[in-house]
Amino acid sequence: MDPVLNPYAPGAGSPPPELAGRDEVREAVRICIARLRLSRPAKSVLLIGLRGVGKTVLLDQMRQDAEAGGTHTVHIEAPENKSLPALLAPQLRLALLRLSRSEGAKDLAVRGLRALAGFVGKLKVTFNDIEVGIDYEPEPGLADNGDLEGDLAALLEEVGRAARAAGTALVIFIDELQYVEEAQLAALISALHRCARQKLPVTVVGAGLPQLRGRMGEAKSYAERLFTFSDIGALADADAKLAITVPAQQEDVEVEPAAVDLIVKETQGYPYFLQEWGKCAWDVADASPISVEDVNTASTEAIAALDESFFRVRFDRLTPAEKKYLRAMAELGPGPHRSGDIAQQLGRGVASFGPVRNSLILKGMIWSPTHGDTAFTVPLFDDFMRRIMPGETWRERAQD
Ligand SMILES: Nc1ncnc2c1ncn2[C@@H]1O[C@H](COP(=O)(O)OP(=O)(O)OP(=O)(O)O)[C@@H](O)[C@H]1O
Ligand SMILES: [Mg+2]
Repeated sequence: MDPVLNPYAPGAGSPPPELAGRDEVREAVRICIARLRLSRPAKSVLLIGLRGVGKTVLLDQMRQDAEAGGTHTVHIEAPENKSLPALLAPQLRLALLRLSRSEGAKDLAVRGLRALAGFVGKLKVTFNDIEVGIDYEPEPGLADNGDLEGDLAALLEEVGRAARAAGTALVIFIDELQYVEEAQLAALISALHRCARQKLPVTVVGAGLPQLRGRMGEAKSYAERLFTFSDIGALADADAKLAITVPAQQEDVEVEPAAVDLIVKETQGYPYFLQEWGKCAWDVADASPISVEDVNTASTEAIAALDESFFRVRFDRLTPAEKKYLRAMAELGPGPHRSGDIAQQLGRGVASFGPVRNSLILKGMIWSPTHGDTAFTVPLFDDFMRRIMPGETWRERAQD
């Protein structure tokens, strides 16, 4: 069928044609923000899930929902090597400038911009990656102690006061939150806690890999009092079916029920895979309805496409030692696996794999569900590792 009209959208952060199965968590965030604006206590939400389950697109949708309701928002994505203050400062500046255009909030927003100037001026020494325009002179004593925890709290309080005066809230959406360093994460949690105690309408809605849950608790033990952790995973069968059938129907195309079932089975309901299968099945089919035979042909193409994109980008970032470690994990199946069993595959003691395991965790490739266990953060990655490093030759260099 005409590839130009193909509705499916495989790709990192590509909005799906049908955002299936996420209404409940969207509603939870809507309620949280509405309560915040009424100065009612509200736990914010952190979306926790593996690669490709749809955290980024969900966060984007929540942001649109919030803006549509008159809530101010900013969005940042934490990369592996940039400081949180460097990411936050330019976004908070934009938020404050926007608030300063609101009559009732102007003075407080200007005070916020002064706080930002103090914040940046002092912290630039520690975080020399901060780059932000300064609109007003700092006010001595305002967010300028030079310690992140106190200054971030002071800054967010000013932002919160300005947002309250403007009759809105500021929601900071942060993607890939697991990459934020522990001390910076602690400062953020503590700042939000201070805002919450004063009922100021500032919050964070975040997303990250499963290790984020543990990292939040390690950063501040009371993190769970501020956040609800919402597991974002594979879609339930009924939702996975909708993810395939609704976009087709919108283009007047039918998918045979058995073909839909086959896609759901092959993808195990994982959102990224659903989009890839939908796209390939559409391109393979000559005409509506898309049949089981079409899906069978599409499966080969979809796997090849995933190998070249979704899996490949992650694989290419690995060192040879990291690849070998993941290959050993894959040998044992989807996991989670005991660290000892993985080490055994590689013929050496567990301790010697500490560094490689740590760097894989830092890169967000694996995580530890419970002490001594290791799991992939990418669904179906074990199959991929066996495809890309087939046979037994990977073992030959296992003694390296
Ligand atoms: N609820 C959904 N229904 C259907 N498709 C979805 C849904 N959520 C996401 N997708 C699709 O899944 C793919 C991955 O989405 P997204 O990039 O948001 O995942 P992610 O969890 O942020 O992944 P990563 O951890 O790699 O950043 C996209 O192609 C998107 O269109
Ligand atoms: Mg993402």
